[in-house]
Amino acid sequence: MKNLFNKLVLMLMSFVLLPALVFAEEAEANLVTIFEIEVIILAILIVVIFLVFLLWHDAADPSSGLKRFTSAFMQKLTGSTPIEKEESIILSHNYDGIRELDNKLPPWWLYLFYVTIVFGVVYMLHYHVLNTGPSSSEEYVQEVEFAQAQLAASAGMRVTEETVQFLTDAGALSSGKDIYTKNCAACHGQKGEGLVGPNLTDEYWIHGGGIKNVYKVIQNGVVEKGMLAWKSQLSPSQMQDVGSYVLSLKGTNPPNAKAPQGEKFVESDSVKTNPM
Ligand code: HEC
Repeated sequence: MKNLFNKLVLMLMSFVLLPALVFAEEAEANLVTIFEIEVIILAILIVVIFLVFLLWHDAADPSSGLKRFTSAFMQKLTGSTPIEKEESIILSHNYDGIRELDNKLPPWWLYLFYVTIVFGVVYMLHYHVLNTGPSSSEEYVQEVEFAQAQLAASAGMRVTEETVQFLTDAGALSSGKDIYTKNCAACHGQKGEGLVGPNLTDEYWIHGGGIKNVYKVIQNGVVEKGMLAWKSQLSPSQMQDVGSYVLSLKGTNPPNAKAPQGEKFVESDSVKTNPM
């Protein structure tokens, strides 16, 4: 009997723990969620083992003190009337010998029901009256923002001529500004007004405007005209940042602006590329 019990416990543990471990690994869950899952599983396990132990002990040794404890416990849970006293709760009707007992609602069920009512009230106050918790749509927006931030972060690592984006977020623009001030201002002016290099704040571009053309010029340079190729000194995402910063200067009309060079660039579906 002891042997059987041990086997049962082992079986239970492997049934409950193995899928949980696999699940935790698959979801790449962080430590907190793994810890939470483990605690819940442990709690379930303890309850299950306790119940199995009670039932097993009950069957094995009916005369034990535990047997009395078990039945008192079950009595508390179910609130059932012992068979000897059923006469006191029997209802008067009698259909072809079928009679009905007026049993109380089982306490385990009743208290669970009360708990759901309390939970419901707390839930409604928390999410709908006091608004201290995020609504489903707010949670959705948060999750989407988080996912987009992650996407942007991973996209930043594989910026190419094709995937480069005109970033408008403050982080990218301020990093772009730093790069510009250090590397570009000497030829294009502190404010992009143009010096040796052309004005970057107007709508006229020698090599085409828009992030793709600008990125290409920054990456490959126009070496024979004095514009360096920056691909060996700046990472793709840095070139994307500084390119975005350059585009953000459009229309700023800085003082001492150099006269427009090249052609007016209008962003369209078919991105215009002038020969370099
Ligand atoms: C040594 C001087 C010099 C530096 C430093 C320099 N540029 Fe240039 N840049 C030029 C010149 C000159 C041109 C014009 C090339 C041409 O006429 O084809 C140019 C052209 C450009 C163009 C194309 C403009 C157009 O009208 O098509 C962009 C965009 C640009 N530079 C961005 C940058 C950025 C960003 C940096 C810093 C990472 C930078 N440049 C650093 C000299 C420089």
